[in-house]
Amino acid sequence: MPIEDPKIVAALGELGVTYIPGQPLSELTSLGVGGRTDLLRIRNFDTLPKLVALLARAGLPWKFLGGGTNVLIEDKDLSWLVLQLDPARAELHFNGETVEVPAAADLGRTVMECAKRNRGGMEGLIGVPGTVGGALRMNAGAYGTEIGSYVRALRLYRAGGGGIETLTSHEVRFDYRHTSFAPDDIMLSVKLALPEKPYGEILERIKVCNEKRRASQPLKEKSAGCIFKNPPGGSAGRMIDELGLKGHRIGGAVVSERHANFFVNRFGATADDLLRLIDDVRERVRRAFGATLEEEVIVWKS
Ligand code: EPU
Repeated sequence: MPIEDPKIVAALGELGVTYIPGQPLSELTSLGVGGRTDLLRIRNFDTLPKLVALLARAGLPWKFLGGGTNVLIEDKDLSWLVLQLDPARAELHFNGETVEVPAAADLGRTVMECAKRNRGGMEGLIGVPGTVGGALRMNAGAYGTEIGSYVRALRLYRAGGGGIETLTSHEVRFDYRHTSFAPDDIMLSVKLALPEKPYGEILERIKVCNEKRRASQPLKEKSAGCIFKNPPGGSAGRMIDELGLKGHRIGGAVVSERHANFFVNRFGATADDLLRLIDDVRERVRRAFGATLEEEVIVWKS
């Protein structure tokens, strides 16, 4: 959606927002799909309440994008703007056993920076692509580690009326790939409490997780990680594999031969190809196993 009023563009500048008209979201997502819209990059998150009020007054709908690694966006022209925190402002601040991390920080880099300060615990998350904010939103997890276990407090912007708030870990529920945040809450920063561990020991664990991941996931292809959540007590990947669906293709979207719960954009897939593949696989799993798989990837339709 283009911003047509030059007064709004000028006001964005005053709020320290970088305005990028007609940004193809396919360039900002790991799946490599997503249509064009105007992108607003926020340099100072204290201005968020004013920015949201400005957009509301102008009748401009928006969505917030994190690292773009767990989202499937329609590829036509989009009817909302996209807000994103500027990743350049993502310095970590250590203080004893805690570290304050901006939401726009890269998750893998954060795990490494903490390791260098002998702070461990999050090694399993090393290969999870995306930002710390995105990981918090959905309580990202891998190899027995979930980020929610290390949260002491966090700052967020509540579009639903509260402004910028600080919550302690007791005020947030972190479940399997699910949290109690509202869909329009925007993570701003988090204070993590991490156990002390020797750097060498953390690196060893990181190496093991990286090797496991390389062996079992299609890391070199365009994907959004696992497409479906695992049903209670089951494995979406195993069920899809058992149905012989590895390599199954709709348009340019393919069920990965390496991990059946990864759908990859191999041949210039459209968002529609991916959505059709999701529905097709879900239906086959439902018929064969009686289980309805729920998407893990977040789908944005106009
Ligand atoms: N399996 C198959 N065929 C496949 C894939 C898996 O038989 O094609 C079997 C495996 O052999 C294993 C079981 O299914 O016995 C589980 O597989 P895996 O260990 O790969 O874990 P997963 O449950 O498929 C979860 C997370 C991943 C995370 C890994 C490692 C979900 C939806 N997925 O995958 O997270 O990296 O564990 O901890 O919870 C993501 O969230 O996007 C993601 C990729």
